[in-house]
Amino acid sequence: MPLVTSTEMFKKAYEGGYAIGAFNVNNMEIIQGITEACKELNAPVILQVSKGARAYANRTYLIKLVEAAEIETGLPICLHLDHGDSFETCKSCIDDGFTSVMIDASSKPFEENIAITRQVVEYAHAHGVVVEAELGTLAGIEDEVKVSAEDSSYTRPEDVQEFVERTGCDSLAIAIGTSHGAYKFKPGTKPQLRFDILEEVQRRLPGFPIVLHGSSSVPQEYVKMINENGGNMPDAIGVPEDQLRKAASMAVCKINIDSDLRLAMTGTIRKYFHDHPADFDPRQYLKPARANIKELVKHKLVDVLGCDGKAEC
Ligand code: G3H
Ligand code: 13P
Ligand code: ZN
Repeated sequence: MPLVTSTEMFKKAYEGGYAIGAFNVNNMEIIQGITEACKELNAPVILQVSKGARAYANRTYLIKLVEAAEIETGLPICLHLDHGDSFETCKSCIDDGFTSVMIDASSKPFEENIAITRQVVEYAHAHGVVVEAELGTLAGIEDEVKVSAEDSSYTRPEDVQEFVERTGCDSLAIAIGTSHGAYKFKPGTKPQLRFDILEEVQRRLPGFPIVLHGSSSVPQEYVKMINENGGNMPDAIGVPEDQLRKAASMAVCKINIDSDLRLAMTGTIRKYFHDHPADFDPRQYLKPARANIKELVKHKLVDVLGCDGKAEC
């Protein structure tokens, strides 16, 4: 099957009370680890490429690797641009064969966000591509998410209907307390997503797919593995997996995970070199890194997203 958009995936996910995993990809081993897990558990998947990943690997390699994964697995795979920063970046990915793009104009004023999102939607829909937009800004990677002082960071539910109607976007990323990176919550505080905001957004946009960015859980086993093998990460705290599971049972149809893959890969490679200091064959340390990414993704599919067995291919 060719690469697909997320339309059907989201429709089934919404109705079935689960979410699709959107995993960031930067190289072959990451793509293989993710898609081998999805193949084994018969799960649909979104592979997403950031502007930085595209600059790192160049505009062709990741597309071809994702196409190879589709050939190898036969799964429904959606190729998505993560955090597109301009119409030009989105257009370039659409022209290259991406089936989904995100235009992230969430830092711009409301009217400007609408205008640029609308422009991307018009071009994307004319080419059979779907668009994710964002309203509200995620907390910075080390910010504590508080209810009062930082309320302006959260998505305002009263804005979502107008935004979706005027832009024509296909899914909407909202800010309910998640943030990018490994340092999401202050040590000693209790992480708590704003389910009241999600509920209100869901009430105002019935049936509409919602996206959660910054949804890594930061597995402590990998933080420990990094720190026990020469690393020096301070206390890193992620989003509790039971809260992600709850969001997936609600209107959240896409959950973005990148940092957890980075931790699994880096922890495994650090440990490998600690145990095998004389080795220098990249295959020897990339193989266990790929295997641990696969195990991590299998856990996410079953215990967090609930999308195992949903590929129907
Ligand atoms: O949300 C951002 C993703 O984790 C991608 O990060 O821009 O460093 O590739 P990156
Ligand atoms: P994490 O940093 O929590 O993995 O978030 C990734 C993300 O939102 C990619 O867009
Ligand atoms: Zn993101």
